[in-house]
Amino acid sequence: MWKYKLFNKSSYFLEEVDNNSIDAIVTDPPYGISYQNHYWDKDLPDKKIWENSLRVLKPGGFALIFSSIRLMHRLMVALEDSGFIIKDVLFWVYLNGMPKSRNIALDIDKELGIESKVIGEYNYVQGYKKEKVDNYYAKGKLKKEPVSELGIKYKGAGLGLKPAYEPIILVQKPIEKGLNIAQNIIKYGVGALNIEDTRIPYEKGESKVGHNPHPKGRVPSNIIRTEYFNDGYDKFFVIPKVRQKKEDFNYHPTVKPLELMYHLVKLVSFENQIILDPFMGSGTTGVASLELNRKFIGYEIDEGYFEIAKRRLENVEKRLKETLF
Ligand SMILES: C[S@@+](CC[C@H](N)C(=O)[O-])C[C@H]1O[C@@H](n2cnc3c(N)ncnc32)[C@H](O)[C@@H]1O
Repeated sequence: MWKYKLFNKSSYFLEEVDNNSIDAIVTDPPYGISYQNHYWDKDLPDKKIWENSLRVLKPGGFALIFSSIRLMHRLMVALEDSGFIIKDVLFWVYLNGMPKSRNIALDIDKELGIESKVIGEYNYVQGYKKEKVDNYYAKGKLKKEPVSELGIKYKGAGLGLKPAYEPIILVQKPIEKGLNIAQNIIKYGVGALNIEDTRIPYEKGESKVGHNPHPKGRVPSNIIRTEYFNDGYDKFFVIPKVRQKKEDFNYHPTVKPLELMYHLVKLVSFENQIILDPFMGSGTTGVASLELNRKFIGYEIDEGYFEIAKRRLENVEKRLKETLF
């Protein structure tokens, strides 16, 4: 009996996957924003993938698809045009997003042909790049201040906000014509969200839990946090455990936290069901699926990332076997 199948090829046609055979899709496709100039993030995926996702999903099955703030509208139109029902947009909220900064005031000086004033040197780590160099330093770069009148007026102005959420689109394949939800679930085993296993536990000692508190906690909301904010406990949105474990062989630049993927996989599926990720990257959806006793089918076009995913899933399978004996 197979536990997972991985394909090192484009997922657009999903030729290896039968019609109406997948219980749920959880995927993090390219956002089409050229993130850190990665070649695979230049464009949004072709609409074919969503048409084929609809084909392979069982009637009533759900899909959760990560997207970007700037292009989610295009993805949602493509999903709707492919036949999916838009159910919700979940927000994954985090604290460590980096605003894109640009010193507009200095640009203005330059444009006006005025030399900005040097006030010192940078001397700190500016960022890190997982794939190539560990850290790169702004050390030695000159710190400047605007000099022109307009430059001074625009000192500190910026072009964007600090990103603090990523949208995750929740869609559903329509249930079979002529069936109601219960009949659809009886026939296909899908059609309802797994609320019971994704409830948010109450905080220890929390008193205001309503008249009839459910022993497992609150119904999960469409905002998901994977980090505690230091403004105290937030009774609606916190997922108790946080942060992925970093494996040093995994250099994929956009690895999603495992804790988040546990939550999402659980939300749209039940044990022993099949999860598909057509853009698996380093295979985080697959790791979560196997650990939660689901089966997994993953596609990844890049050979390097594919090898990472394969190794991660082999490690999970090995670990799970060891705990059995
Ligand atoms: C945002 S990343 C997924 C990262 C993943 N969530 C993780 O935790 O590692 C999207 C992946 O889709 C892959 N990809 C892009 N186009 C593809 C295609 N047509 N078929 C399969 N994979 C593709 C890219 O190589 C990239 O690794």
